Amino acid sequence: MLAATTRRAAFAAVRHGGCWQRPTRALSNFHPLGSHIDTAENNTETYFDFTEENYERVNRVLAKYPSNYKQSGIIPLLDLAQRQNGGWLPLAAMDKVAKIVGVTPMAVYEVATFYTMFNREKVGKYFIQLCGTTPCMVCGSEEIKKVIEEHVGMKEGETSADGMFTLREVECLGSCANAPMIQMNDDYYECLTKETTIQLLEACKKGTPPSMGKWGSLPMNGQVSCEGPLGKTTLDTTPPAPKMRSDIKGDVDPASVKAHMGY
Ligand code: FES
Repeated sequence: MLAATTRRAAFAAVRHGGCWQRPTRALSNFHPLGSHIDTAENNTETYFDFTEENYERVNRVLAKYPSNYKQSGIIPLLDLAQRQNGGWLPLAAMDKVAKIVGVTPMAVYEVATFYTMFNREKVGKYFIQLCGTTPCMVCGSEEIKKVIEEHVGMKEGETSADGMFTLREVECLGSCANAPMIQMNDDYYECLTKETTIQLLEACKKGTPPSMGKWGSLPMNGQVSCEGPLGKTTLDTTPPAPKMRSDIKGDVDPASVKAHMGY
């Protein structure tokens, strides 16, 4: 086990721009590529452990890999830790994962700093990732960003004062046909306009974000999926269903796919 100060120094030496260097405070305290800076809620004294229920999930994840390749479980265990911890990963959670899979803490820090889906600083209850890539941009993502910033009272990269929302601009989320769109926590809200974005934010403030549509995302303009204004023009009859794997019983409804997630 590394001493606390060594561990902090190792963490600070994350990789930036293709060369190893100690990042400076000039990097955003929020940005996933920023270095760790101790805060009251995330420092070397912070405690983290999995719940009993999640230890069962940990065991199920690790059972998928040979016992000498437990490190293959780093990503699913980080994801599990992040979900348990309200959407972000303190140092203590990364250290716990390192201990469970039997690698150095640095090996886990390398993974957590590489993949931007891991948040290493606290995020709001509703973590909004706004796609700003070209198709979304030409369809109005800049306006959507402005609406969110003004309606919630925060800038991109910030968390609202009441801890409800965090806004981060990201690259393509793979839903370009329904641009502009955001991902909020696990869910996609698409075909946004200024008005529907405000409706969505207001629903979240009341704790009742609209549930996902038939295909596991929600186009906010009444579409069912990614059909255009003329409706279905290509697949206008139902294609034959693909053969199901014999170990999967029954259909999985895309709208409730999270309930079927493996671990
Ligand atoms: S460009 Fe926004 S989802 Fe692809």
